[in-house]
Amino acid sequence: MTKVEKELHVPVMLKEILEIASPVLLDPENESPRYFDGTLGRGGHLSEIMKLDSRIKGVAFDRDPEALEYVSNLRSDWIQDGRLLLKHSNYVDFSPSTEGLFDFMLLDLGVSSPQLDEGRRGFSFYHEGPLDMRMDNTKGDTAADLIANYDEEDLTTLFQKYGEISRPYRVIRAILHDRKDKPFETTRQLAGLIERVDGWHRKGHHPATNYFMALRLKVNEELDSTERSLRPLIHGLKPGGRLAVLTFHSLEDRIVKNLFKDEEELGSPLFKKVIKPTWEESQKNSRARSAKLRVFERGNHRVDTAQGLGST
Ligand SMILES: C[S@@+](CC[C@H](N)C(=O)[O-])C[C@H]1O[C@@H](n2cnc3c(N)ncnc32)[C@H](O)[C@@H]1O
Repeated sequence: MTKVEKELHVPVMLKEILEIASPVLLDPENESPRYFDGTLGRGGHLSEIMKLDSRIKGVAFDRDPEALEYVSNLRSDWIQDGRLLLKHSNYVDFSPSTEGLFDFMLLDLGVSSPQLDEGRRGFSFYHEGPLDMRMDNTKGDTAADLIANYDEEDLTTLFQKYGEISRPYRVIRAILHDRKDKPFETTRQLAGLIERVDGWHRKGHHPATNYFMALRLKVNEELDSTERSLRPLIHGLKPGGRLAVLTFHSLEDRIVKNLFKDEEELGSPLFKKVIKPTWEESQKNSRARSAKLRVFERGNHRVDTAQGLGST
């Protein structure tokens, strides 16, 4: 993979998201359309949304300093013009009293392709690197810390709950045995153990996939962040504003679905059913395959051009 390919992140369900964002951001009566992106990544969604109209102003958070550095170079013109403000923040810390209210908000959850593909970030079971997995690599416990310190019960809960692995026992026993001699420090060391113990059952599905996903979700407290952030984000919508959330994990989607239902006093889900990527997109971009999109609209309905989307 070349350096440029490593840095690429293809924005998932971009067409659908632009259709949902357009009516609220392009309303001719809205003199100052505002967009909040809680998961900037490589700025793929952000760039296309901000290009819809030069009047749109954006605020974007990412907890990964590398993502912010990349987009601050890519979009330095917007930053200098005061159109775009980037912050090294967790979206859990979003507060409408600090950031103001927005017409359109987006969370594109999970990790970006460059985070996954760069061995040194420690997310990849194919590429050697430190067993890290922190999106914000300036603080917090790494995956290596969890593997070193969790007892049998903690590891069982972790892999069953977050990885949805029904019988992780043999892998856990092997971890507990091997770590007595040598701590787990690298991605390939752990992936190699899982390959050895569990073996390959499904073609194209690495046996470490769900173990690594469980560790990543825990290291970054991803489910907890989603749960804690949605209410403040909904409070950050202008009347008629929309919050779109893209998830890649069934537990995460369930959290979004339930919290959107709980906020009936402020608004409602824009579509009854979850929106999934088209077959064509899933074929072109494997990351899109598990994507699910839900949208919450704050009360005070607008004319909508995205009505066809809810039927998938
Ligand atoms: C899937 S990528 C977003 C990709 C982006 N939409 C694009 O098109 O380039 C997710 C990004 O969100 C960031 N992220 C994940 N959880 C976060 C959190 N709780 N707060 C802030 N950023 C977070 C990750 O570091 C990563 O850069």
